[in-house]
Amino acid sequence: MLSVPLPEDCSAEDFREAARRCLAANLSPQQVMFACGDRPSLFEETGLEVEPARLNVPRSFVTLVSKVVCHSAEDRFALLYRLLWRLRGGERGLLESPADPDAMRAALYAKAVDKDVYRMHAYVRFAEREVDGKKLFVAWHEPQHRVLRLAAPFFVDRFSNMDWLIATPVGTAAWREGVLSFGPPAARPLRQGDEVLDELWKAYYRTTFNPARLRVKAMVAQMPKRHWATMPETSLIPEMVHAAGGRVDAMQERPPDTPPRFAAAVAARIAEPPRQPEEAAPLDAIAREVQACRLCPLHGPATQPVLGEGPPHASIMFVGEQPGDQEDLAGKPFVGPAGQVFDRALAEAGIARQKAYVTNAVKHFKFEPRGKRRVHMKPSAGEVTKCRFWLEREIAAVRPKLIVALGATAMLGLTGRTVAVTKERGRVLPFQGCSILVTVHPSYLLRLPDADLAALEYRRFVEDLRVAQPWCEAA
Ligand code: URA
Repeated sequence: MLSVPLPEDCSAEDFREAARRCLAANLSPQQVMFACGDRPSLFEETGLEVEPARLNVPRSFVTLVSKVVCHSAEDRFALLYRLLWRLRGGERGLLESPADPDAMRAALYAKAVDKDVYRMHAYVRFAEREVDGKKLFVAWHEPQHRVLRLAAPFFVDRFSNMDWLIATPVGTAAWREGVLSFGPPAARPLRQGDEVLDELWKAYYRTTFNPARLRVKAMVAQMPKRHWATMPETSLIPEMVHAAGGRVDAMQERPPDTPPRFAAAVAARIAEPPRQPEEAAPLDAIAREVQACRLCPLHGPATQPVLGEGPPHASIMFVGEQPGDQEDLAGKPFVGPAGQVFDRALAEAGIARQKAYVTNAVKHFKFEPRGKRRVHMKPSAGEVTKCRFWLEREIAAVRPKLIVALGATAMLGLTGRTVAVTKERGRVLPFQGCSILVTVHPSYLLRLPDADLAALEYRRFVEDLRVAQPWCEAA
């Protein structure tokens, strides 16, 4: 058995490097033992001075590794290496198999890590300090797993304009003058909190605490007692739990509040099903009407709705997910980075974009503002379903012979069903009097971190489009 050393604070990259060397040396999981410690690399001593093996693994495994390495279980590296070994051996569907104990254990570890990240985001409480004459917000948090690196970007996003430090028993994360750094563990601070901030948290908690929804067991499961010491509002819990029964009685005895003005009218309007037109409206009428779309809240922050574009009776229609940042500004589909990949692939497949009608399942850009950026957010199933109103009208007006769904959201918008795109891709199937073909979304190709895999997937995308090409010729 060979002992493979890993750094104490082993990251996904550290593990990947070590595991690739083990693979290059053809060491089976039974032959290696991963040992976490702060010893320098012992690869020379262990004879693993070999070039790390290059290996293509599914993207889901990369994500899994990034989480599982943060788990506190001792067997986490051995578990990941076993999975990697089996993936290299060509086991298909391994990670998704509910009957495989290793795959399931890794999924449980990843879930526990996700939960711990969530708790860190929710339960960190900063206190204001002055260090070297500058304001610094400090917090102490005791996560169950080593989630500091995973959780830190959230705080960077939220609190980018203040200097802060989060200390934990296994390391610290500091954001100072716009730079994020990680340091060694810190000692638990003796003095906790800050009076002003503590009072704000308490006031917030008092106003949001609903005695009628009190479930003490669920509350403690959600907010483990380990975190209570650093959360000022938890000092209110005993008193509020004690008073909850009386407050519920008082609430029940109080006469009902009068609903705000217009509430009934608004509720009735929301409940109204969208009216289906009797006969197909022409595209220019749809384009006018969609400007006033209020079927879901996405119209609020978006610049404008983006309807499809192309010949009004194109024989081929492409359906994407939703407009992105550039599409939202331009009012045209697929003009941003995903559009460029799409155009290149179309050209390689012999499809002239100007002969196709190109649209999206959702007509408004859904995003989250982060600083000056607007970061794409996946539309919810409810939003996609609401927007089918427009997609169906576009299909009724254009009457294409073939519809190409680019990705799962497009399929949901078209069929109302979720499908496994990777399984169904590239096959032409009958669909409501025409045909349908599903392939991946061009943005998927942009997100692939591995250049070889991205090139391979791009080729597969072009091949799928080639299947659609004859329909374009038929126009
Ligand atoms: N992604 C889409 O799905 N549609 C666009 O229009 C742009 C990016």
